[in-house]
Amino acid sequence: MGEFENIDLVVKEGILILTINRPDKMNALNVATVEEIRTAFRRVYDDNEIKGVIVTGEGPKAFVAGADISEIAALNEMNGRKFSENGQEVFALIENCHKPVLAAINGYALGGGCELAMACHIRIASSNAKFGLPEVSLGIIPGYGGTQRLTQLVGKGKAMELMMTGDMISAEEARSLGLVNHVATTQDELLPTCEAMLHKIIAKAPLAIGMVVSCANAVYTPGENGFQTEANSFGSCCKTEDFKEGTAAFLEKRTPNFKGE
Ligand code: COA
Repeated sequence: MGEFENIDLVVKEGILILTINRPDKMNALNVATVEEIRTAFRRVYDDNEIKGVIVTGEGPKAFVAGADISEIAALNEMNGRKFSENGQEVFALIENCHKPVLAAINGYALGGGCELAMACHIRIASSNAKFGLPEVSLGIIPGYGGTQRLTQLVGKGKAMELMMTGDMISAEEARSLGLVNHVATTQDELLPTCEAMLHKIIAKAPLAIGMVVSCANAVYTPGENGFQTEANSFGSCCKTEDFKEGTAAFLEKRTPNFKGE
């Protein structure tokens, strides 16, 4: 997978570790990096060898310190809207992925970096991580889904405060708000903690995991009846081989061997 300039991809025991790799720019997301993330996630959708994904940042300081401000500075109304829609589209690819996606937040997760983390299904941070949506300091607003996903994750009042003040918060505060699921004490523990959780998830029935993603996302899809989506998905689960295997394994007191069928 050597065709990428701004990200590294390594597959290890069914887990793709996607590392944003621009440490001299605090892993800021330029447009080329966003396109590489799109290409990588298309591969995740199609590649049966990949069972789950961890998104992280290179180096000890930053997960991703935002969209690349040197590119943003040149935007006008027309291409600014397109810039936002394009990032939203790529991050929706992450959010809607039928395979589990964890963010391993190893440092600054600001602006587009916080938005990238929020597009992932589960967030685990190291204790040095810092979170914030400081866009108003630049005269813009979060444009990669952040106004929506932060409000969904932490509620309107706190989201308003964070987006209006642009304040940075600690990993522990982010955890207390529900913005991150867990905090790993040291950076060394971060990836192993993520890998352990992801191995637990990918040992479950893969089709059921994909349906958890679509049902949870249905809550936030205007016009979609999430309860109906749930009932339809439940029905679909009942016709899978994995359902037969999971229930049989329980009754036979053995570990199930799911095949994603
Ligand atoms: N876009 C472009 N370049 C960025 C960047 C971004 N979002 N964030 C950091 N960089 C660059 C800096 O310009 C600097 O480049 P240089 O060495 O060529 O001058 C390099 O990364 C290191 O950053 P620096 O600011 O020197 O590190 P620091 O440790 O003093 O501060 C931050 C770290 C993250 C607090 C600070 O870089 C920052 O505030 N970044 C912008 C955050 C932001 O507003 N993000 C939202 C964008 S929409």
